[in-house]
Amino acid sequence: QKQLNIGLFGFGVVGEGLYKVLQQTASLNASITKVCIKHPEKKRNAPAELFTTDAEVLLNDPSINVIIELIDDADAAFYIVSRALKSGKAVVSANKKLIAEHLPELLALQKENKTPFLYEAGCCASIPVIRNLEEYYDNDLLQGVQGIVNGSTNYILTRIAEDGLSFAAALKLAQDEGFAESNPALDIEGIDAVNKLTLLLVHAYGIVSHPTELVHSGIHLLHAQDAVFAKEKQYEIKLVAQAKKLRSGKVAAFVLPQFITKENQLYNVKNEYNGVVIESGLADKQFFYGKGAGGFPTASAVLSDLSALRYGYKYEYKKKNSGLTAELTDDFYLRV
Ligand code: HSE
Repeated sequence: QKQLNIGLFGFGVVGEGLYKVLQQTASLNASITKVCIKHPEKKRNAPAELFTTDAEVLLNDPSINVIIELIDDADAAFYIVSRALKSGKAVVSANKKLIAEHLPELLALQKENKTPFLYEAGCCASIPVIRNLEEYYDNDLLQGVQGIVNGSTNYILTRIAEDGLSFAAALKLAQDEGFAESNPALDIEGIDAVNKLTLLLVHAYGIVSHPTELVHSGIHLLHAQDAVFAKEKQYEIKLVAQAKKLRSGKVAAFVLPQFITKENQLYNVKNEYNGVVIESGLADKQFFYGKGAGGFPTASAVLSDLSALRYGYKYEYKKKNSGLTAELTDDFYLRV
C-alpha cells in the first residue's frame, strides 16, 4: 500500500486531534511528516522536530504526497491549498471559509492539475453530510435541507436554556471546550454557519454562491426575553441553516435563529451536536445527527477523506446546472 506522507498545516484542536488518532490508525498507512505552525512558542504535545513555521518546507518536500490544511486563516489557506494542488499533492481541508469563498477557483486548479481535493470535515464535522448529499441524485426532488451546522452556538444555546448560564459564560465554555473559532464572532454572528450552508447548497442543489450573498444572522441578536418565551412555549431556540425549494423552483437559503417545535428532529439536537434534516419528494425525511465540533469528531472526517484518497472517491458535482466538475480520472488517486 502506498504510504500517505502528510504535510499538516495547523496544530490547533483539530490538528492535534488528528495527530493523536493517526497514531492509532495503522491501517491507513499514513503518517505526518511535518507540521507547519504559526506560533512556535506554544507548548505542543508532539516531538519538536515535527514542527516548522516555514510553509515552503512542506510544499517543496517531494516525499509529502498529501497536504492536510487545518488552519483558521482562509487567505493563507488559499495560498497553501493552491500551491499544493499545483504541485500535484492531494489536499484535504476542513476550512469551510476557504471552500465557501473559493470553491470554483479551487476546482479549476484541481481540474488543471488533476489532483484530488476533499473537504468532508468542512461541514458538520463527524456527519458525512457532503457525501450523502451527493447521493441525492436528482435535485428537483430535494425539497429542503434544514440543519444545525454550528456546534459552538448550539452548545451556547443549550447551556443558556438548560443551566441558565449567561451568554458570556456559555461562550467562554464553548471556547474552553475547543468548539469555537479563534474569532468566535464567526460562530455567534452566523458566519461559520453560512459558510457551511454554501457547501450544502453546492452539494444539495448544485448552486454556487458566495456566503455574503446569503441572508444570515446569528445568536448575538437574541434577547434574554427570547429564551423566556421559548421556555414558556416549550420551543427550542436553534441557529438554523436552511435551503428550501420554493414553488417557483427557486431555492431560498438563509441562516437565522429559529424557534423549533417538538415535532422537528432538530429539537433534540443539543450541546455541540449538529443535525441535518433532508426532505426529498419520494423518500420524505432523513435525519443526520452527530458531533459537529471538537478535535476527534472533526479528525474523524479528515480520516475518512484520507481513506477516500485510497479508494478513489471524488465529489461528482453531478447536480444539474452547477457548472462544476471534478474531472478527475482514477489514476490520480493514491491507490495501492
Ligand atoms: N466553530 C465551529 C463550530 C467548528 O462550532 O461548529 C466546527 O466547524
